Amino acid sequence: MERGMKRREFLGAAAGAAAGMILPETVMSVGIGERNIRLGYVGVGKRGTQLVECMFRHKGIVVPAVCDMDAKAADRASGLVEKAGGKRPETYTKGPKDYVRMFERDDLDAIVVAVPMPIQGPISGAAMRAGKHVLSEVAPAITLEQCWDLVRAVEESGKTYMLAENVCYFRDMMMLQNMLAQGVFGRLTYAECGYIHDMRHLGFNADGSPTAVAMMFITMIGNLYPTHAIGPVAQFMGIGRTDRFVSLTAATSVSEAVQHYAARRFGKDHPSAKIKPRCGDMTNAFIKTGKGLLIELRFDMASTRPHPNPVQCLLQGTKAAYQADGRRIYIEGRSKGYDWESLDVYQKEYEHPLWRQFAEQAKGTGYDGADYFMTRAFVETLRTGAASPINVYDAALWASIIPLSAASIQAGGKPQAFPDFAAGATAKKPS
Ligand SMILES: NC(=O)c1ccc[n+]([C@@H]2O[C@H](COP(=O)([O-])OP(=O)(O)OC[C@H]3O[C@@H](n4cnc5c(N)ncnc54)[C@H](O)[C@@H]3O)[C@@H](O)[C@H]2O)c1
Repeated sequence: MERGMKRREFLGAAAGAAAGMILPETVMSVGIGERNIRLGYVGVGKRGTQLVECMFRHKGIVVPAVCDMDAKAADRASGLVEKAGGKRPETYTKGPKDYVRMFERDDLDAIVVAVPMPIQGPISGAAMRAGKHVLSEVAPAITLEQCWDLVRAVEESGKTYMLAENVCYFRDMMMLQNMLAQGVFGRLTYAECGYIHDMRHLGFNADGSPTAVAMMFITMIGNLYPTHAIGPVAQFMGIGRTDRFVSLTAATSVSEAVQHYAARRFGKDHPSAKIKPRCGDMTNAFIKTGKGLLIELRFDMASTRPHPNPVQCLLQGTKAAYQADGRRIYIEGRSKGYDWESLDVYQKEYEHPLWRQFAEQAKGTGYDGADYFMTRAFVETLRTGAASPINVYDAALWASIIPLSAASIQAGGKPQAFPDFAAGATAKKPS
């Protein structure tokens, strides 16, 4: 348990943070305070680089060390630290385990992990076991074993873990969170969400050989990237606080899109045009909650389709409904007639307090400013010692959709029970 706090208190404190993204009153212990926060990075590719730049929007950040197997990437990130006025970090570039050497340093408070998905969990766990707090990119784990290991690493180390799920900090998502907290939706009954984002351009090298992204489609099955879609919806529904995920059932379509793309780009006789991905083009899952709420979760990173809004979201409450597509809302007794209105109509009234206060500072950071609020939440958590707003139990639960959806598909759609991560890894062994 983080810093010796009782689990119930911990979950309660985190609930306050997640409900309104406002730091909870319960302070678990003395945090880092106002001194410099010393960050190390593992993985400074596209996403890690964004997170290096964004962190310097906050006061008192120093980066003594950076690790990446790719020396050029580590060098580029070090240059960015210098450009921001910091001392050039020491780099760790001697292969896939060199982060172990970096974790031995005693001048790092926390590690930001932004490596490929299959190693995100193991590296985050190793960092906490070495005594560092962690901010981890998504998805945080890809198997149930990795999910449990992550929970165990937090409980055994007492370190703070936060999942860097930036969609939870999108302006509209935080405004909706605020509206839900103020009862605008009445009781939430149903949600649809999905990550539908054609990523095939990242699937192949220039010679047509598959990259790690295409290899995921080739070797895995199920919803391979659930957290962007499920994160905000789980928070809207109070999952892990006042409700829980009970079971999931999934189905997948035929796979045609990846090989179709490869044939178009590299010719129909190229070996990549003949691959047979295990992952279908569209994977849908239904999730039931303990209170009987229903979620339809979709996943498609392969089909031809423009993506102005890659994160789909539809919310149904007893008093209001919302659709991300078109940013439309209907509120009983307020919307004129029986028609949708733009969410903008309610912006002044329901803008999240943090966005009201910090929108200027967030300008220019990733995902229309969401990265500012996400990194700010991590920095504030470390400074105050408050509970993580997206803690390891959330991370494990959201990530477990990857293996559970695969298991359900392989069992012909049979419902799969969610593990009770919040009961604790030390109290309950994985089955
Ligand atoms: N939150 C978001 O909006 C968002 C956006 C993009 C990517 N991501 C996530 O961020 C992660 C990284 O994605 P990316 O697009 O930056 O990929 P990338 O390939 O550009 O970067 C990954 C980096 O990790 C390094 N690396 C790999 N194995 C390593 C090891 N053992 N030790 C040290 N360095 C290692 C690689 O050399 C590379 O520089 C992924 O998990 C992805 O899902 C999240």
